Amino acid sequence: MNVACTGRSRALGARIAEHLGAGLVETNLSRFPDGEIYLRTGPLDDTTVVVGSLLSGDSLVELLLLIDACHRSEVLLVIPYLGYARQDREFRPGEPVSARAMARALSSGVSRVVTVNVHKETVLSNFTVPASQVSLAPEAGDFIRGLGLGNPLILAPDRGAVPFATAVASRGGWEVDHLEKTRISGKEVRVEPRKGGPWTGDVVLVDDIISTGGTLAAAAGMLRAQGARGVHAVCVHGLFTGTALDLLGSSGIGQIAASDTIEGPNSRYSAAGPIAQALSR
Ligand code: R5P
Repeated sequence: MNVACTGRSRALGARIAEHLGAGLVETNLSRFPDGEIYLRTGPLDDTTVVVGSLLSGDSLVELLLLIDACHRSEVLLVIPYLGYARQDREFRPGEPVSARAMARALSSGVSRVVTVNVHKETVLSNFTVPASQVSLAPEAGDFIRGLGLGNPLILAPDRGAVPFATAVASRGGWEVDHLEKTRISGKEVRVEPRKGGPWTGDVVLVDDIISTGGTLAAAAGMLRAQGARGVHAVCVHGLFTGTALDLLGSSGIGQIAASDTIEGPNSRYSAAGPIAQALSR
C-alpha cells in the first residue's frame, strides 16, 4: 500500500503514510498553457490511498485526475474536507444537490471513501461505494486540554454543532452548552445571548467549519460582552476565507485552531491518526 496526495493535502498525506507505515507516491503537478492541470505519479503499489480535500474547482479536477492516474491500483479515497457538503438538499427549486453531485463524481474508480466530520452524515449515502467518516472530537478535546484552561465551557454556536461539542466536552468532562444562531446572509449571522446566563470563565467555541468567521465572531462578541474571561475557537475544517482570521482576532478570540484537513498556519492538530485507523479497519 502507498499514499498519493493532491497539492493541498501533502502534509496530511505524509502523516497518514507515516501512521500506515506506507510509502508516499511522488506526484508532479504542472499546468498546460491554457491552465488545464497536468499530473504524473511515480510507480504505484497494488493499493493506493489517495488523499485530497475538496476545496475548489481545481482541487476537484486534481483529485479526479489523481484517481484516474492510479487506475491500475485499488484506490481507497480519503477526502479530509468534503467541500460542497453544505448544499445537501434542494433548498429552492432549480438548485442542485451539490453534495450528491460531488459524491457521485468522486465514487468513480475508487473502492471506498473515508472523510472527516462531514457537515451532515446523510451526505455519505450519495457515494455509490462504501463511504464512512471519522470524527476528530477526541483530537479536538485533547488539543483543548493542552491549552491548560482549567475548566472551560465548551460552546456550540448553533444546534447543529451540539453533537460535536458534546463529544469534545466529554473528552475533558467539561460543561457543554449551545447558542441559537440565525443566518441573515452568507456572511452575516445573529447569535442570541446564552440562555444559561453569563459565563465568566474561559469559553471554547467549537464548530465543524470556520468559513468567513462570521458565526464565531458574533458569538465571541456576545460572550465577551457578557463577561467571559477568554474566548477561544476550535474547529475541524479551517477554511478561513477572505478576512476571517482578522475578523476572529478583532472579535477577541484568543486561540484559533483547526485540524490539518485544510492545511494552513492555524492547523494545530491532525486528522492522520483517526484516518489511518479507519483505513486499517
Ligand atoms: C454551518 O452550519 C457550519 O456548521 C458553520 O457554523 C458555518 O459553516 C460557519 O460559517 P462562517 O464561518 O462563515 O460563519
